[in-house]
Amino acid sequence: MADHKVYKVVVVGPGKRGMHHAKFFKNNPRFELAGISGRDPEKLAKAAAELGVKRTSTDPAALSREVEPDVFCFCTPPGLRLNLIRIGIQSGARLIAYEKPMATSMNEAIEIRKATESAGVKTVVSHQHRYGQHYRKVKAIVESGAIGRVHTVYGHSVGWMLQIFTHLADYIRWYNDNSPAEWVMGQAAGRAKLTDSHPSPDYLAGFVQFANGVRGVLECGAGAPDVPEVDYWWRKNRIGAQGTEGFAEVLTGGGWRAVTRNEKGVVSGEGCMNYDLDMPPYIEDIARWLDDDRAVHPCNGESAYQGFEIMMGLLRSVVQRGQIALPLGPGEPELEALAKILPPAPVLSSTEANRKNYRT
Ligand SMILES: NC(=O)c1ccc[n+]([C@@H]2O[C@H](COP(=O)([O-])OP(=O)(O)OC[C@H]3O[C@@H](n4cnc5c(N)ncnc54)[C@H](O)[C@@H]3O)[C@@H](O)[C@H]2O)c1
Repeated sequence: MADHKVYKVVVVGPGKRGMHHAKFFKNNPRFELAGISGRDPEKLAKAAAELGVKRTSTDPAALSREVEPDVFCFCTPPGLRLNLIRIGIQSGARLIAYEKPMATSMNEAIEIRKATESAGVKTVVSHQHRYGQHYRKVKAIVESGAIGRVHTVYGHSVGWMLQIFTHLADYIRWYNDNSPAEWVMGQAAGRAKLTDSHPSPDYLAGFVQFANGVRGVLECGAGAPDVPEVDYWWRKNRIGAQGTEGFAEVLTGGGWRAVTRNEKGVVSGEGCMNYDLDMPPYIEDIARWLDDDRAVHPCNGESAYQGFEIMMGLLRSVVQRGQIALPLGPGEPELEALAKILPPAPVLSSTEANRKNYRT
């Protein structure tokens, strides 16, 4: 095998997800973890010692000027995106890898897309659940035609919008061959999470019309149904596709199941969301895309943009009422607009665990 280039990486924000990224870049021989940046010097020193990284700085721009990375990776809270994207572009990196959600407003997502496209920088957004064996099994069943013609794709989660919605949107889009969304219509309730680090309505639900005629149904938050097969609250997500001859669905913490035209009764199998299993192929695909422009990363920024747009379209629908045609242009920041009109009535929760998590 020919020798491959080793790509230099800078990771910013060594919290939970930053440490995952840093560790798995470091473990992959295609990458050199060349520097890390964090705002708290003590935590940064601790992370650097743990990872065996020499170059650190509390200033991501200064660190990137020094390192000149191929990959600029950041894993900060959702409120910090566009500025770090700009630092990543200025660093000369060929790829920026960052955490979901890609932005907190459509205006910001549009700016990010414009800035990275015009600089010719690839982007990857961490919707890495799709690497789970159970997620891939559902994709394989749908793709094989075993459930007939797909007419509906769906996803629900008890987690709140900025935490989880773009995961759901990304995977239903995948199960629906990435068909573009034409319009959306939604409704929301509950103000408790508007001031969270991941600001969100407590409950958001809506419909999507995809260009291929398939219906998307999405909901997340306090009002979303339980997934009783799964114990861990954050993994109570169900995502799947229904067709003319059956269905196939994944439970984030509980494997997959299907009814198909090929087999009698319900077929099922194992799988549980697991960073240790999902991160290595996610990181490996970054090297593949850097090596070869045609090997587009499954979690590419354009896919994230399309899922994010569905979410922002639903918020616009709540504010403006009725159906919202996509693609979206710039507009009033959706979460600010939502905060002005969302009624004070507490959200109605679907389970006791949801009531606790939404303090209602
Ligand atoms: N893909 C997934 O499965 C998944 C799972 C959990 C979280 N996330 C996402 O990852 C992101 C980070 O979440 P986390 O759980 O790692 O959070 P965290 O709090 O553990 O880490 C956040 C990091 O950002 C740094 N930071 C905070 N404010 C900063 C600032 N103003 N300037 C520079 N650095 C700053 C913190 O010091 C910390 O290092 C969020 O967007 C979250 O939604 C994704």
